[in-house]
Amino acid sequence: MAGIDGNVTARDGGGRAACLFVLFGVTGDLAARKIAPALYNLQADGLLAENFAVLGVARKAKSNDEMRDEMRAAIVANSRQPLDETMWRRFAARWHYAQTEAGDAGAYRQLAARIDELDRQYHLRGNRLFYLAMTPDTFGGIAENLGLAGLAGRDNSGGSGFTRIVVEKPFGRDLASAGELNRQLLSAFDESQVYRIDHYLGKETVLNILAMRFANAIFEPLLNNKYVEQVQITVAESGGMEGRRGPYYEQTGALRDMVQNHLMQLLALTAMDVPLRMRAADIRDEKLKVLRALEPMTPEQVAQRTVRGQYAAGLSESGESACGYRQEAGVDARSEVETFVAMRLSIDNWRWAGVPFLLRTGKRMAGKLSQITIVFRREPIRLFQNAGLCDLRGSNRLIFRVQPHEGGCLICDAKVPGPEMLLRPIRMEFDYKSSFDSASPEAYEHLLLDAMAGDSTLFIRNDEVEASWRFIDSIRHAWRVGGLPVVEPYPAFSWGPDAARRLLPTPHESWYV
Ligand code: BG6
Repeated sequence: MAGIDGNVTARDGGGRAACLFVLFGVTGDLAARKIAPALYNLQADGLLAENFAVLGVARKAKSNDEMRDEMRAAIVANSRQPLDETMWRRFAARWHYAQTEAGDAGAYRQLAARIDELDRQYHLRGNRLFYLAMTPDTFGGIAENLGLAGLAGRDNSGGSGFTRIVVEKPFGRDLASAGELNRQLLSAFDESQVYRIDHYLGKETVLNILAMRFANAIFEPLLNNKYVEQVQITVAESGGMEGRRGPYYEQTGALRDMVQNHLMQLLALTAMDVPLRMRAADIRDEKLKVLRALEPMTPEQVAQRTVRGQYAAGLSESGESACGYRQEAGVDARSEVETFVAMRLSIDNWRWAGVPFLLRTGKRMAGKLSQITIVFRREPIRLFQNAGLCDLRGSNRLIFRVQPHEGGCLICDAKVPGPEMLLRPIRMEFDYKSSFDSASPEAYEHLLLDAMAGDSTLFIRNDEVEASWRFIDSIRHAWRVGGLPVVEPYPAFSWGPDAARRLLPTPHESWYV
């Protein structure tokens, strides 16, 4: 994280680290949609070192030029900045391809030779970053194979450069499989070399939660159970399975896909205590304390405090029609997999005891909206009780808008102009676009740069992953054993099943949008 004092690697004169970026899964969807465009944007912004090269790894036979053409098309389709032909030609010359069967331990000797060759060619000083843009079932095996081939660089203390491995989500399917994956990774690498990605942590607006909370003395004294009535975290998406994600979702569901990682991280950043310093270890220690304060739920609590839903066919306000989840390609016609989850949870620590945290996420909802709403308690005595429009008044709210309208907002009451003492809620808005000239980089740009620079602040530590799964597993267990309400259908392009209302602290409250 630029500007934060993490465990940062020495960089070159321009502040950038020499690096061989070994991209496993270069022919896959993630490489095309996110990784190649992010690397291109970093190059275009002058943030990559001169001594930088990519080695794309995949199973198919392919020439360097074929891979480069595919990457060019991917960048044209997905890049934040338009492709500049001259720059791309220069950059593309540093992209190389290695046909490798990732599951075949024997193939890694050849890969090692290729890595050494590129290291010499580009003067990379032994610095290498392995990026696993592959299906999660391959992560453990690849890490072990890298270790067996002497590529894990565990002992790089002799000045032979850094070796790091970046692992995509989902990190395991439950606590047991996450533990096994950690064991495999750590059999070859040290924890300090492992960078577990949650791309939400690379979003400017998510980082801004830290800035707003810990760079301004006015908010922090209020963020506790004395002043806060409830906190709501919504991550809603209007998209569905996009024609290709049905089979993945059938295996995953919204709880694993979104709650275990993205929502738990948003929760941790919102609720964590002030870190000692803005350093990776201190920030992760504080997030971990929040995750550990989530008591696993009993089946009775799961029944009362969670709602799961699945979208049915529906029509958007603009007239777009969508099929139901069960009609999506690759989805079982009787599937019970949840595409929506809402829950009420409590953080059992001194700061937050008694404050309900309401979380919800879903596909095919009425809009794409990610935001955190902190709702404050009302004033202790209603001096304006008879002030005419008092029924329009709500609670004060502090809103962190993650997307799409990046920014924030403080809602409070003010006097309406005129002879009478009438009050109305007003919004004090902060909007990224109008406050700053520069466009926000994509989350992946931020994270890739940090991984190359050795700053692990925005990556998830193994104990965070395990604490999060411990809590999530208690919900999954209760859902699986049955006897609980099944998935509730909701029309596509709505705000989810009505049943989610019963999680609110009182019946006349609502989920904020
Ligand atoms: C991914 C999930 O991690 O995050 C997807 O697997 C989801 O299902 C995506 O659509 C949402 O990311 P963003 O950045 O578009 O909010």
